[in-house]
Amino acid sequence: MSDRIRTDVAHNARVWNHWLGGKDNYPVDRAVGDHVTGLYPSIGEVARADRAFLGRAVTHLAGEAGVRQFLDIGTGLPTVENTHEVAQRIAPDARIVYVDNDPIVLAHARALLTSSPEGATEYLDADAHDPESIVRSVEPALDLTRPVAVMMLGILNFVMDTDEARSIVRRLMEAVPSGSYLVLTHPTLELGGEGNAEAMAFWNENATPPITARSRAEFASFCEGLDLLEPGIVSCAHWRHDPPTGAEPVLVAQFGAVARKP
Ligand SMILES: C[S@@+](CC[C@H](N)C(=O)[O-])C[C@H]1O[C@@H](n2cnc3c(N)ncnc32)[C@H](O)[C@@H]1O
Repeated sequence: MSDRIRTDVAHNARVWNHWLGGKDNYPVDRAVGDHVTGLYPSIGEVARADRAFLGRAVTHLAGEAGVRQFLDIGTGLPTVENTHEVAQRIAPDARIVYVDNDPIVLAHARALLTSSPEGATEYLDADAHDPESIVRSVEPALDLTRPVAVMMLGILNFVMDTDEARSIVRRLMEAVPSGSYLVLTHPTLELGGEGNAEAMAFWNENATPPITARSRAEFASFCEGLDLLEPGIVSCAHWRHDPPTGAEPVLVAQFGAVARKP
């Protein structure tokens, strides 16, 4: 086991995996995760809605939008319907670079490196606080003269300073050409979510890394200079949800949006 892996402190990637029903977590992650669920009962729904949003956003981008390159920052532990599986089902030649700074995600990364023969997947052990090093390392896996979908799902909430979070997004989007996309999800206290604030306070005392919620205005500022795709900034559960049942999906307190660089 890597000596970077701490099994005595709950860590986000592993607790997220627990909420998604995965097995790649330790007792401390399950204990903290279950306590959070006690405070904020819809957190499991949030995690599932976030993954479903990922599926719909990548399906749109690889399909209708014709994107062939994905930079998935804050990947999380491998689960079902990872970005490359969704994208390469539609476009077998899609190329995906996964980025995370959690050593346990690195330890499981080979499950993400199962590319179709026509495409490619790579994994980068890097920190979102240093976007320049990510940009430097993604080539030649990605061709930065061609459009890239930069995905940051549930990760900017771990960058506590909003100006820094904005600067990270800006620097990443400056590195990719016109026709690239930004895909974001982020927790908020503005869409209800009974117990969300208490759960975040508990998290920040008992787990790592610390987390913050953001307002719609702050979320919108991450998309400044980009063109938001319809329906704009909504609960990620509502973003182009599959309508066949006719039922409105449960609203979760997590914003989601996809925006295009003009
Ligand atoms: C809530 S999980 C989201 C996983 C996946 N994107 C999803 O939406 O299902 C957040 C992930 O971001 C990673 N992460 C947090 N801070 C990071 C940082 N500074 N640099 C890189 N990854 C980070 C965590 O290790 C974790 O795997």
